[in-house]
Amino acid sequence: MRHVTPSGREAFFPASELIVSKTDTKGRLTYANRLFCDIAGYREAELIGQPHNIIRHPDMPRAVFKLLWDAVQQGREIFAYVKNMTRTGDHYWVFAHVTPSFDGTGRTVGYHSNRRAPDRAVLEGAIIPLYADILRTERSHANGKDALSAGCHALSDFVASRKASYDELMFSLQSAA
Ligand SMILES: Cc1cc2nc3c(=O)[nH]c(=O)nc-3n(C[C@H](O)[C@H](O)[C@H](O)COP(=O)(O)O)c2cc1C
Repeated sequence: MRHVTPSGREAFFPASELIVSKTDTKGRLTYANRLFCDIAGYREAELIGQPHNIIRHPDMPRAVFKLLWDAVQQGREIFAYVKNMTRTGDHYWVFAHVTPSFDGTGRTVGYHSNRRAPDRAVLEGAIIPLYADILRTERSHANGKDALSAGCHALSDFVASRKASYDELMFSLQSAA
């Protein structure tokens, strides 16, 4: 991952547009659309072959990425709110749909993500406080494994408190908005 300091400035993209990327099975970028490049501040050639965590923001809880990877590696799609970081340290929030891409025999050949602009009320009312809480939990553990496990518990406790599955909850938050 590149070492960029978060600026605290937020970048936005139009609600009518999608940020698209594809990766190989290791999570290395194989495609990024124009909007991905424009908002993140990279040329496509600089992105191809790079790990997708090139746009990882340090405020993102690790538990969310574990959930994402567990889902796609098991052949399932997943929805997630993600705070991403641009080349200069600015951030932009997305509501992402991440899915495996299969070949004709059903083998996973890579992954694909479409992202749209999240609803502001959902972000501020639910996701930002939730992620801050999970991050605090993760950071209270010195050991990486304990941190991830505690973060995953905090995330699943939140989902359980809403009496839904993670997928139902994430999708219903966005579509109810
Ligand atoms: C198709 C696909 C899309 C992804 N999109 C993002 C993204 O927008 N932002 C992000 O930080 N990580 C994204 N990830 C997850 C990264 O691969 C990575 O797990 C994450 O940035 C955390 O970094 P780390 O695994 O090195 O801790 C995506 C992964 C896949 C397979």
